Amino acid sequence: IKIITTHQLQAMKERGEKISMLTAYDYSMASILDGAGVDVLLVGDSASNVMAGHETTLPITLDQMIYHASSVVRAVKRAFVVVDLPFGSYQGNSSEALRSAIRIMKESGAHGVKMEGGSEIKESVIRILSAGVPVMGHLGLTPQSIYKFGTYTVRAKEEQEANKLVEDAMLLQEIGCFSIVLEKIPSALGQKVASSLQIPIIGIGAGPYVDGQVLVTHDLLGITKEFKPRFLRRYADLHEIMTSAVTNYVNDVKTKDFPRDEEAY
Ligand code: KIV
Ligand code: NA
Repeated sequence: IKIITTHQLQAMKERGEKISMLTAYDYSMASILDGAGVDVLLVGDSASNVMAGHETTLPITLDQMIYHASSVVRAVKRAFVVVDLPFGSYQGNSSEALRSAIRIMKESGAHGVKMEGGSEIKESVIRILSAGVPVMGHLGLTPQSIYKFGTYTVRAKEEQEANKLVEDAMLLQEIGCFSIVLEKIPSALGQKVASSLQIPIIGIGAGPYVDGQVLVTHDLLGITKEFKPRFLRRYADLHEIMTSAVTNYVNDVKTKDFPRDEEAY
């Protein structure tokens, strides 16, 4: 196997090397991210927001996730590709969960799946793991249950919710998940989970003491404009760069500057 494996991700945690993870939904972007050395590419159900313009991650379908995932897989030479099981494809029915995970693996060629939740989805996770599919957990802010919480604010600030999160993380490790994403929780809780568990803990808004970081690529590149949570560091302003490029193109077409003789046959 030429790609990064779950064993290599585990080894990174053990030697204290942080894991880099970013979202990808299409071939062109995935090939740039893979070439730049990102360890894990997540075909996130954030595609529902970023690619399709929905307000939440709930509407995206399994077929749509498979389309995004197969595009990403075709671009990848090194990264481990994880795909979100979308809302409604795994909750509450472990047979359906297994069927969904197998469809993703067979039809896209991805390397693993990610699922939101802890004890509530235990049976589904066990069933998928026993089919040999690597599973990444996802705890803390879980956008697929946004309507249960009503807000995208920081999670597990209270002791009870924090204790439940730690228990869920231990459970996911015990049943065999290879890694867990922790979203938007206090730094101290991220540290506690990362130091008490053996498997790599990847944070998004979970502070610096976890084993790796994940961001939505379009946020990091500044393509999305409105979204500015505190945990987001913008590494470029592609919104500005792209707007200016396209404005110049429109202007050149209008003024007949484009195309010139040397750009014509
Ligand atoms: O869908 C997504 O982009 C995610 C990350 C934010 C972890 O689940
Ligand atoms: Na997601």
